[in-house]
Amino acid sequence: MPDDRLIVAMDLPNVVAGLELAAALGDSVSFYKIGLGMLTGGGLALANELKQDQGKRIFLDMKLFDIGATVEAAVRGIAQFDLDFLTVHGDPHVVRAAREGAAGSDMKILAVTILTSLDRGDLDASCMKAGDLTDLVQERAGIALMNGADGVIASPQEAALIRALPESAGKLIVTPGVRPVGADLGDQKRVMTPAQAIANGADHVVVGRPIWQMADPKAAADSILRELLSPQATAPNR
Ligand code: C5P
Repeated sequence: MPDDRLIVAMDLPNVVAGLELAAALGDSVSFYKIGLGMLTGGGLALANELKQDQGKRIFLDMKLFDIGATVEAAVRGIAQFDLDFLTVHGDPHVVRAAREGAAGSDMKILAVTILTSLDRGDLDASCMKAGDLTDLVQERAGIALMNGADGVIASPQEAALIRALPESAGKLIVTPGVRPVGADLGDQKRVMTPAQAIANGADHVVVGRPIWQMADPKAAADSILRELLSPQATAPNR
């Protein structure tokens, strides 16, 4: 059984590049994230092909935000494709509408709290309420979960705080911002290793460039999968 705790982010331009990466990674990787960057390159067709023909699990990272009726309609349309995870922004009306749209399907709705690329100055510029950013992330996570999200996206640092909330019992925490020891950080700032992220309460880690940018992506993925089997990758009390 492949370890589906590792989700590989396919931040690639099109279907051809995506299929090449999936072929290179083979059976060891069973879960892929497809995001907005591939929308115009056939992202949804690739999601369907990987799911239906290759039996992979799919995380569609669309970060939807709109009026409730539009979110509900968009999610209902996506839910027909039998994909596994879909992201929406964690605002209560968005999460509730997404829940409605996903009714009757097994697709999990994951809420984005505050994008990890934003700092307090960015929140001020967007008129977001005062307070420590980490506290706001925890508060927004709790609100999204209370409104029916199946889980949240969080940095590995935030994962432990969210796991401590009573609302997160039985819910998913999915963490990008993960780097194996020695890997290039790219533009990620607050990173942890895959094992640390799991130990902090994450159910899945999302890793992109440290796999797809490598000369040997399969060796990179296998090394992360080995790390996930180490005793350090065990969450206490779970
Ligand atoms: O290449 P890297 O491992 O940094 O890729 C991480 C993936 O997770 C990218 O697809 C990025 O867009 C996404 N992501 C993130 N931070 C968030 C939400 C999504 O890095 N807060």
